[in-house]
Amino acid sequence: MAKLAFLGLGVMGGPMAAHLLRAGHEVTVYNRTTAKAEAWAAANGGAFGATPREAAEGAEFVMACVGNDDDLRAVCLGEEGAFAAMPAGALFVDHTTVSAQVTRELHDLAQAQGVGFVDAPVSGGQAGAENGVLSIMCGGAAADFDRAAPVLDAYARVCKRMGESGAGQIAKMMNQICIAGLLQGLAEALHFGERAGMDGRAVVEVISQGAAGSWQMQNRHGTMLDGAFEHGFAVDWMRKDLGICLATAEELRAPLPMTALVDQFYKDVQNMGGGRWDTSALIERLRKLGGG
Ligand SMILES: NC(=O)c1ccc[n+]([C@@H]2O[C@H](COP(=O)([O-])OP(=O)(O)OC[C@H]3O[C@@H](n4cnc5c(N)ncnc54)[C@H](OP(=O)(O)O)[C@@H]3O)[C@@H](O)[C@H]2O)c1
Repeated sequence: MAKLAFLGLGVMGGPMAAHLLRAGHEVTVYNRTTAKAEAWAAANGGAFGATPREAAEGAEFVMACVGNDDDLRAVCLGEEGAFAAMPAGALFVDHTTVSAQVTRELHDLAQAQGVGFVDAPVSGGQAGAENGVLSIMCGGAAADFDRAAPVLDAYARVCKRMGESGAGQIAKMMNQICIAGLLQGLAEALHFGERAGMDGRAVVEVISQGAAGSWQMQNRHGTMLDGAFEHGFAVDWMRKDLGICLATAEELRAPLPMTALVDQFYKDVQNMGGGRWDTSALIERLRKLGGG
């Protein structure tokens, strides 16, 4: 069992850190809003630090799940950043969805002080984190991944190395590109059926068992038909992710026409006040365009 630190106790990080504790590791957490760290420690029994550096002191592994590129830099670098406390031989595992660029930048800085850095973004949402069944896609040195994998097992259904530093984030981008198209297709089909007076649930019962079936169809059609979006993965987060995809696509000269279009549809959803709605809220935009 290892001594670990976990930085960022949000929707994803909170339950992930709790799984590590339940697996028998010694866990010290950090959260920018200290009240959340206090509540987590009271509920789960672990310790908390006032800064990333304090939490990372003496830890063999430091995990993070914060917001975006700048947030990740903020918890890693500077006087009070985790890197300041990490000795040679320690390992940083980042679960945040960020750019491959910041990943490689931090990987190189970590490596310069003898610290390993594995990018390990996740898919599976809040339920996946709570139930410990996340899909984790990793990038970094094979030896670092081999050390991290048994620890990540505490909240993984599948955990696989995709290649060198940044490859985990590229895999996560591929995941988000797929989801954007899937959700727009699902939203169009359900809205189309609604306008035609069809029973969407009855249709999904049949077509979900055929070639059109998907996780999104299975898990989101009911709430989409009900117009309920106060759950799941927020549109604001999705726009951050699609922004990363589109910027990377430009560097790679890999056109993403559908992703670019759906990104603009998400902008419309934000303008409708739906920034915190689940990504399946694309159907609400169609309802608005269709006149209700
Ligand atoms: N939610 C999902 O379904 C899901 C699924 C897959 C991947 N992800 C990715 O996982 C990451 C976290 O998502 P989440 O849903 O857990 O987000 P969240 O609930 O908003 O939590 C974000 C966490 O990051 C911390 N944070 C943000 N900026 C920070 C900064 N500058 N310095 C220090 N801490 C900072 C927040 O601290 P405070 O408490 O102080 O705000 C909070 O603990 C994101 O990159 C997201 O894209 C999310």
